[in-house]
Amino acid sequence: MISSMPSQTGGALTWVLDSLRHRGVIGSLRYYARELRDLLVDLTPERRKSRFGDIDFDFDHNVDTTWARISLRTRLREWLSGGQYQPTEPAAFRQMLDAIPVSLDGFTFIDLGSGKGRALLMASDYPFRRIVGMELLGELNAVAAQNIAHYRNDRQKCFVIESHNGDARYFDFPAEPTVLYLFNPFPRHIWREVLANLHRSLIAAPRPVYVIYHNPVHEDIFAAQSWLRELRRTGQFVLYEAGS
Ligand SMILES: C[S@@+](CC[C@H](N)C(=O)[O-])C[C@H]1O[C@@H](n2cnc3c(N)ncnc32)[C@H](O)[C@@H]1O
Repeated sequence: MISSMPSQTGGALTWVLDSLRHRGVIGSLRYYARELRDLLVDLTPERRKSRFGDIDFDFDHNVDTTWARISLRTRLREWLSGGQYQPTEPAAFRQMLDAIPVSLDGFTFIDLGSGKGRALLMASDYPFRRIVGMELLGELNAVAAQNIAHYRNDRQKCFVIESHNGDARYFDFPAEPTVLYLFNPFPRHIWREVLANLHRSLIAAPRPVYVIYHNPVHEDIFAAQSWLRELRRTGQFVLYEAGS
């Protein structure tokens, strides 16, 4: 199921103004220069070829979630917005979900920065009550919608999957037991807003919430939240239990 939610994605000018506000002029110039250098390296034939290393999932399940088939226009929009698409690797995903110490039956799975929807699809192999994604770039979210419609897997257990186009800062957390999945989607300044929203929502409606932070490069921001209790840590992810 794909339902609608108000789309608040800003756009290139908003993203650059956000960056100027949070990083300042010099900080933004440095940031965009560094990201542009990475983007140019990524365009080399060798790098493009290596990105097809993630294609097995797509063959197995009749979808398009690969990192390799991202247009230059989308890469430029990623560069301006400060996020970068990369799908979660299936074995890593299973390891992260297996670390949650309770049955997932009845929980809602939320992926902020859901890209082409691979984590949403993989989550549907578990007995979640429903699955919700939010992705900033409309073109990636459109592919996610196609993927949800075409996904094939005999092990699928949850069929209520929504994918929304919008900025995660405006995500309205449902008052439901939640597994929140975050594959390092945002630049630094966005994290504080997203975590503050989650905390507000938990105070208003206390409930079980587990947060998986995959590739935790801004982990210091999480460590500063006294309402997040670390349950498990590996080199790849940190699992937290949230309390109000
Ligand atoms: C590393 S990818 C993860 C994709 C997906 N979660 C998965 O695991 O397969 C991060 C995604 O976050 C998106 N993103 C970046 N900033 C965002 C924001 N403010 N709101 C929503 N999505 C955002 C990027 O466009 C990118 O597609």
